[in-house]
Amino acid sequence: MANSTASAKRDGFSSALGVLAATLGSAVGLGNIWKFPALTGSNGGAGFLLIYLCATLVVGLPVMIAELTLGRHARANPIAALKRMGPPGRPWWLVGVIGMIAAFLIMAFYSEVVAWVFAYVWKGLEGSALSSDPAVTQGAFTALVSSPWQSLLWQWVVLLLIGGILLKGVSGGIEAVTKRLMPLLFLLLTALCLYSLTLDGAGAGLSFLFRPDFSKVDATVVLTAVGLAFFKMSIGMGTMMTYGSYFRTEQNIPLTAGRVMCADLAVSLLAGIAIFPAVFTFGFEPAAGPALLFITLPAVFAQLPFGQLLMVLFFVLTSIAAIGAMLSLLEVPVLILHERLGWPRHKAIGVCVAVVAVLGAACALSGSVLAGFLLFGRNMFELMDFVSSNVLLPVGGILVALFAGWVWGKESFTHAVSNAGELGNTRLARVLVVLLRYVSPVLILIVMLHGLGVL
Ligand code: PHE
Repeated sequence: MANSTASAKRDGFSSALGVLAATLGSAVGLGNIWKFPALTGSNGGAGFLLIYLCATLVVGLPVMIAELTLGRHARANPIAALKRMGPPGRPWWLVGVIGMIAAFLIMAFYSEVVAWVFAYVWKGLEGSALSSDPAVTQGAFTALVSSPWQSLLWQWVVLLLIGGILLKGVSGGIEAVTKRLMPLLFLLLTALCLYSLTLDGAGAGLSFLFRPDFSKVDATVVLTAVGLAFFKMSIGMGTMMTYGSYFRTEQNIPLTAGRVMCADLAVSLLAGIAIFPAVFTFGFEPAAGPALLFITLPAVFAQLPFGQLLMVLFFVLTSIAAIGAMLSLLEVPVLILHERLGWPRHKAIGVCVAVVAVLGAACALSGSVLAGFLLFGRNMFELMDFVSSNVLLPVGGILVALFAGWVWGKESFTHAVSNAGELGNTRLARVLVVLLRYVSPVLILIVMLHGLGVL
């Protein structure tokens, strides 16, 4: 009953541009800014890029296309989609449940990092946390992370903003916002790149990023590339299935996925070009993760002309990237609760935001009152990151690939990917089926076992 009311006037993306902006908004996130460039630089530059490209083509893209196609075909949340499309009585819908759990866990720690990014926009405006002495910028970051109230309040700001956008719906919220923010992101990023290229360290920065060093390429590097492709393309947890359910019927899914992949790669490369020349100009170590963003970069900005403005622009840009990713994460459980329990959207959003706030508090407080609370040798922040990235996403990815390739089957998949034959891409669809059946699941399994330390 509730299901049919929900789907009778189902919201969705209203234009091809909106589809692209929202899907790209999900893929582009914190991963582009602190993970990708640093991993590329330290894992062999152009050699790593080449491997990453292969990983996205062989694993990332097929799984992304499969998720989008399943979602669009079912026009429903991941649990309902798999229930409806799988053989009766088989628990394939559990893949949707795993996705929902993964979404909550990722949001719990991701929202805290976004909270720091928001806090740094504020610090940039104030001019605090800007010092050419890394010991001082380190102190400013430690002060933020170890203050329970600051960590919690900024996280709530993030959650209220994301929840508020989702209240406006799919076309009026997600689509409208990402359509405006994505071009702004490219504009800001290009401006920062051009500026960075005029600095003395431009040569050293570019060579760190791009110089091929195949001696660094080993099994671990290959596995890192596959794992990164997974996280970057937001696959393995129902996000793309959810967004696929909002795609227009005539949308060319493989083309859209390919464009998203290329644009996402471009954002990552531009981010590297913006960051590393500046870092090398002042002789800093090219660190990764929070240290790069919140300790090294403020020290770099402090030494540049217009440093304060640059700092604000950089963190605004990072906030933009993170907002699109957060929207797509929160939409997964919201749609599930809305459709399965028949709750109005605002109730589903309120409950999901509350759940993330509770789980997220455990992460937000990992730097202060919960610092000594460890499970399996990890604090809450690290644990949620580890379980979602190394267990739930790969398991979800393997199951989606197997479902699309074997259970839903070659004919149905080809029919749906080719828009009932209209797109004339049946040969591509066949290649995708082979990848989904034999290649992606095996590769993902290897990555997962490696991430768990089994291999
Ligand atoms: N792709 C996002 C990033 O790079 C992260 C993300 C993962 C978003 C899974 C949604 C789902 O930051």
